[in-house]
Amino acid sequence: MIDIHCHILPGLDDGAGNMSDAIEMADLAASSGIKSIIATPHSNIPGGYRNYWSLSLEDDIKILQSEINNRNNPLTIYCGQEVFLASGFMELLHKGNFITLNRSRYILVEFDMLEQANVAYRKLEQLISEGYVPIVAHPERYGFVWEQKESVYRMKDLGALLQVNKGSLKGRFGKNEMDVAIEIVETFQADFIASDAHSQYSRTPYLADVHEFISETYSSDYGDLLLKVNPQKVLNNETIYSF
Ligand SMILES: [Fe+2]
Repeated sequence: MIDIHCHILPGLDDGAGNMSDAIEMADLAASSGIKSIIATPHSNIPGGYRNYWSLSLEDDIKILQSEINNRNNPLTIYCGQEVFLASGFMELLHKGNFITLNRSRYILVEFDMLEQANVAYRKLEQLISEGYVPIVAHPERYGFVWEQKESVYRMKDLGALLQVNKGSLKGRFGKNEMDVAIEIVETFQADFIASDAHSQYSRTPYLADVHEFISETYSSDYGDLLLKVNPQKVLNNETIYSF
């Protein structure tokens, strides 16, 4: 499996606090059958984590990879960010402040939890008009998606892809999030399931259970699509054909 959304880089955001936490997260991920993780620190949060792309971030990935290799853990870490689409994000993108997932056409994005639907659509359209494919992180967590279920289809029609959090399916974030996450998966509007892991204790990078759940509840092909096939296409910068 490949985890496309994981806060594993140590000390950058509210994810792994230090290298030892990151190593434990990496071990846990590998034990659940994950071969690769795209490290996606929060970026561009107004008044919060900025983490604009820099050589220093690239070094952080290399250092973590080397620590992982030293433990004979076969896990590979790739570069990425979880880009908060605050106003002015396109200018920052043009200036090179953001990196896409493994430098592909795919960019992992998040909104303010109280974002208005029309504003969210406009931001996605801006990215799509410049050739990017936005992957909306945890669509099940946004108020506009709870209130307007058709927004799921609207975002897909625009050309965005949807990444559901594994924790949402288990009710980790609340009932609204769980109901919408299940609906997105059941209606085959989901393109990815990822951990959005923040630690080795809660919100972990362990994905074996959710892969098993999707495979048993729907089909093994669907489980593989969400956790293996589509994530591999992101790493390879290949086209993803979505429902
Ligand atoms: Fe995240």
